[in-house]
Amino acid sequence: MNKKELVSLVKNMTIDEKIGQLQQLTGNFYTDSEAEITGPLNESGLTTEMVANAGSVLGLSGAEELIGIQRDYLESSRLKIPLLFMADIIHGYRTIFPIPLGLASSWDPILMKETAEVAAKESALSGLHVTFSPMVDLVRDPRWGRVMESTGEDPLLNRQFAKAAVEGYQGEDLRNDLNRIAACVKHFAAYGAPEGGREYNTVDMSERMLRDMYLPSYKAAIDAGSKLVMTAFNTVDSIPATANKKLNRDILRDEFGFDGVLISDWAAIKEVIAHGVAGNDKEAAKLALEAGVDIEMMTFCYQHFLKDLLAEDLVSIDLVDEAVLRILELKEDLGLFENPYRGANAEAEERWVFSQEHQDVAERAAKESIVLLKNNQQALPISETEKLALIGPFVDNGEILGTWSWKGNPKETETIKTIFEQEPKKIEASYVPMADVNNLTKEELNGAINVAQKADKLVLLLGENFMMSGEASSRTNLQLPQAQLDLIAALAELNKPMILVLFNGRPLELTAIEPQFEAIIEAWFPGTKGAKALHDILFGKVNPSGRLTMSFPRNVGQVPIYYNHFNTGRPIDYDDLENKYVSKYLDVANTPLYPFGYGLSYSNCSYGTLASTKETYRMSEKIEINLDVTNNGNRAAKETVQLYTRDIVGQVVRPVKELKGYHKIDLAPNETKKISFTLDSNDLAYVHSDLTLTTDSGEFEIMVGPNSEEVQTILIHLTK
Ligand code: NOJ
Repeated sequence: MNKKELVSLVKNMTIDEKIGQLQQLTGNFYTDSEAEITGPLNESGLTTEMVANAGSVLGLSGAEELIGIQRDYLESSRLKIPLLFMADIIHGYRTIFPIPLGLASSWDPILMKETAEVAAKESALSGLHVTFSPMVDLVRDPRWGRVMESTGEDPLLNRQFAKAAVEGYQGEDLRNDLNRIAACVKHFAAYGAPEGGREYNTVDMSERMLRDMYLPSYKAAIDAGSKLVMTAFNTVDSIPATANKKLNRDILRDEFGFDGVLISDWAAIKEVIAHGVAGNDKEAAKLALEAGVDIEMMTFCYQHFLKDLLAEDLVSIDLVDEAVLRILELKEDLGLFENPYRGANAEAEERWVFSQEHQDVAERAAKESIVLLKNNQQALPISETEKLALIGPFVDNGEILGTWSWKGNPKETETIKTIFEQEPKKIEASYVPMADVNNLTKEELNGAINVAQKADKLVLLLGENFMMSGEASSRTNLQLPQAQLDLIAALAELNKPMILVLFNGRPLELTAIEPQFEAIIEAWFPGTKGAKALHDILFGKVNPSGRLTMSFPRNVGQVPIYYNHFNTGRPIDYDDLENKYVSKYLDVANTPLYPFGYGLSYSNCSYGTLASTKETYRMSEKIEINLDVTNNGNRAAKETVQLYTRDIVGQVVRPVKELKGYHKIDLAPNETKKISFTLDSNDLAYVHSDLTLTTDSGEFEIMVGPNSEEVQTILIHLTK
């Protein structure tokens, strides 16, 4: 249908049919089978007619079931407008990839795109049309459980991953490519900055900061064609995002040019009452519609009150029609009017979902995501002649998928123990699983000490369980659970070399336990093939290459802690630590334990001298920065060479470092590669106090290194 036909379809709809399109319901309204539920279920008060008119469904999947629901729905529908099926496919459908914070550690947007392609294919064949992904919220506070679902603290990486994910989900021809689904970028806006890291809490920042650091990733997803946007639960400038007209109409639609569907987050329309800007459901409905929210997810303010609002002339029918039209356009863009079943195909679903081909992508992704944080005296890789004791809650545990993997099945996920036992080699290993991350039984402790005494090396597989991060999982204590700290303390007394492997969804506070370990690996929740990837890294079949995209604090009191911070008027001087009146803590350094960009490998790469082709550049010229990087090790390595800049004198204060480019390169043993970075003046632009994006002339520091702390610095000058 073309636009004209869609407009005339809207004209033919009754008010009830129109309002129905604006309603999203969970799958349990349509089926008795288990549906994904991620928020409070309120009493709906819906009539069967309302359910029959609802335009979209959340959290169901499976080709056969969705074909059946669509068929029944269309049979009883007057205008035969197909249902939209949406769900949270965040890091894979049934083939589960590392959590997004892990995937981001690959510093490889192409890999992100490939994982999104696989997720899209599995979802599309299972009957889905839309995924509520990517989440592109910039994060600086690991107390917030949803950092696991983000790509970290850097705007450049966030933008690149946002674009890659949208392109992976939607492909180039969403309408005709039945292996694709529509993306929904979320949560608009700044959901990643709740005060105190407490879920759903207030967000408050200047508009300049919002535009400079937070909005660009949503914009990147929109520019990449994201068909939907989801509102955030939080306030933006003291107005709930879901009722925020300036945010959703002026910025999102008028400025960013977004003409797709804006969906509320779960119950977010009704929640504007609790926020305190609406007195009841009716007022909430009016505010949200006026703010430009097209679909209401799982509350019923539109459903119950739009009709009255229209009858009383309190909202204009044009706003309703405009929202309905956008939803119909999305259905049209997905080709649903022609083919309401779209990709749903039980045979293809059987063939492709969790297929070997898809698992291979998951294995590659897991290998690229794992970060080596410490490796003293080459404790890793482990040699096959060493006698090992593998101890801890993740020894024989398929729950390494992470939250937001509702179709992932821990029972079909290989565990570390199964992989170790499968691998044909002479390793002698004993296994002491712990049943619960929060509890260490006497038997488990005794068993651990017993096998540890006979081993050459202890590998401790520790962390948070998957429910300790994700939505509604904020924590103020970022250390490992006490039971695991007790285990570490007991085993440390044996004075055997210990290796720590961490499974978790956020940067943890490792300061107290770090000295006990010769080596530390951050495995995140690595997904379907995580155990295999980890095995290959432990034994050196794969050289680890992940780099952090979020700082690891020394101490929870430091958070928010992020590399691209301001200098302050009294920056700390590390050569004069006696000076009291500087910006510092009395009890802990300002720096993180592991900084942004950090990660080791089994090779040692060295950086040659950094050079710029010129000292002074005109704004119109390309800035060229060069250096050599050498792999001094005897293994092939992947090195991520990172370039940061600092605008020394800005119109407003600029961060001490901002990532402006990186090259992830392959280096053979003893190989040297010439690395070149090309920047143009737009790369140095930032949001000024008048909210325009412009570049200052003047001096800039150019810094290059293997992470955000160990950099070489040169100066360049930019003139008009
Ligand atoms: C609430 C979450 O905030 C959002 O990200 C998710 O997509 C919805 N629930 C739907 O499950």
